[in-house]
Amino acid sequence: MCGIVGYVGPQQALDVVIEGLRRLEYRGYDSAGVAVVAGGEINSRKKAGKLANLEADIASNPLERSSTGIGHTRWATHGAPNDVNAHPHLSEDGSIAVIHNGIIENFASLRDKLIGEGVSLRSQTDTEVVAHLLAKQVLVTPNLGDALREVCQSLTGAFTLVVVQKDNPDLVVAARRNSPLVVGRGQGENFLASDVSAFIAHTRNAIELGQDQVVEITPNSVKVTDFQGNPVDVVEYEVTWDAAAAEKGGYDLFMLKEIAEQPKAVADTLLGRIDLSGKVSLDDLALDKKFLKNIDKIIITACGTAYHSGLIAKYAIEHWTRIPVEVELASEFRYRDPILTPTSLVVAISQSGETMDTLMAMRYAREQGAKVLAICNTNGSTIPRESDAVIYTHAGPEIAVASTKAFLTQIVALYLFAMYLAQTRGTGFGEAASEIALELASMPNKIDLVLDTAQGVKKIAEEIHNANSILFLGRSVGFPVALEGALKLKELAYMHAEGFAAGELKHGPIALIEDGLPVFVIVPPVEDELHDKIVSNIQEVRARGAKTIVLAEEGDESINEFADHIMRLPKCPSLMQPLLATVPLQIFSCEMATVKGYDVDQPRNLAKSVTVE
Ligand code: G6P
Repeated sequence: MCGIVGYVGPQQALDVVIEGLRRLEYRGYDSAGVAVVAGGEINSRKKAGKLANLEADIASNPLERSSTGIGHTRWATHGAPNDVNAHPHLSEDGSIAVIHNGIIENFASLRDKLIGEGVSLRSQTDTEVVAHLLAKQVLVTPNLGDALREVCQSLTGAFTLVVVQKDNPDLVVAARRNSPLVVGRGQGENFLASDVSAFIAHTRNAIELGQDQVVEITPNSVKVTDFQGNPVDVVEYEVTWDAAAAEKGGYDLFMLKEIAEQPKAVADTLLGRIDLSGKVSLDDLALDKKFLKNIDKIIITACGTAYHSGLIAKYAIEHWTRIPVEVELASEFRYRDPILTPTSLVVAISQSGETMDTLMAMRYAREQGAKVLAICNTNGSTIPRESDAVIYTHAGPEIAVASTKAFLTQIVALYLFAMYLAQTRGTGFGEAASEIALELASMPNKIDLVLDTAQGVKKIAEEIHNANSILFLGRSVGFPVALEGALKLKELAYMHAEGFAAGELKHGPIALIEDGLPVFVIVPPVEDELHDKIVSNIQEVRARGAKTIVLAEEGDESINEFADHIMRLPKCPSLMQPLLATVPLQIFSCEMATVKGYDVDQPRNLAKSVTVE
């Protein structure tokens, strides 16, 4: 949420910053702005709307060449998304420019104090107070790093702050509490960004910043301290993917590219972690076997699509390990006084590793004495760093706001963990383990088959794009798939959509069925005990006028006469079906948004990485 870039070095700073913002635009796209330091002045430009507006503005009235610059793409929290509230925010004398991601919770009292001291504020943002506080502080402690450290101690809330000063042409200073910030270490140049994609075209060497730290970058140095000014040892790592992975690669949309990458993402997440006998090796899992044997409760916590992967995994974990599993929205979890003990395991799932609700939930769990396992796609991000252990999904960078490939890999990582747990606790399932391993190994090919045949959903989208509402029905693991299908449609096509447990239909939702209402139904494999029950549900909605779009396995003819449209899925066991059934629903929501003329990769009001609570 909000993308941040900083640069010092021999390149034209504006170009590096704008290119970085383009890669971070998925984090927020209400407005964008830049500031460069040149000729003893700060030149800033900011515009409401997408980055393209800012670029057009700069093209018509270019900024000066500079070696030092910062840039911001905003997801508004305080103040409307207009030119004035866009970042950077400057001090009254224009000597300091600040960009910010997060929320400064005590900004109102700081603002009132500043106003009392005669400062005039221009915007409605919480960020602007920092520019004024810094301008006052440098009068006392002239070093910009010292001034930022001082100011940070008076702030509460979550923030990444990045600052430049007019008389310091080769210096960018930044601070981090709760919101993300990484350093890119180059040769004679250095970078700051919300995530590595902003600078991956220039360097793959990154440095993780910890909680409550300040970093000062010049072309040839990176200095990291805590807020008190004590030096901090940093962890440097190499990013394993390259710039091409964060490009559209011939696709019109990031989302379509990421949907198409799912077979590879699943294969990469399995790679080296399971053999065909069913033996799972999670050698780098930092949870000792004694703890794993003693776990008596698992609580999965996550947001959005990641939460749905947890709902699916619950079925497999309980079935394979016999450990009770609860799945809870991270934003609810810590506010209900959950029962946690040293034998509880909390699993925090997050593609970005930065979602504030999930971060706060896992911190709370650790404070209560539980151990936390992160399932995460972003190396070095905050959630895995603060967890007791992590299993990384290997989906590669996910840029489209609506999550696709991360979702499938989260399910796979959770399944691997469930098998590992069963193996460690001796609740192993003998023959079944090798069957599951074979099924998992066959998933990339089967997802490929779904991708080949799912293009038919485009026709369905054209046919029903004017519907007021669309329902999704499923049972068992098909129920979270229904929830995910509905979420995707809300996110991308801005329409009412609901996922229901098909068995609940008769207890309420059936009243919604009227003539022509499209209803997607996810039908489990024929041998599943729920199969016939759901076929009855299809008949019940059809009898009341619904238009039924049925996802069923190949060869299941029992649904033919009750389906207006059929999407075929390769045969697989019930627990694996979400890895296949989700895919046509992703493509469908993408097609619906396209037919309606909406921006698929950057849907309105949303952001990919939500770093506020
Ligand atoms: C945002 C995104 C969703 C995502 C959710 C959780 O709301 O728009 O697509 O599922 O955050 O994100 P995470 O990075 O924690 O998986």
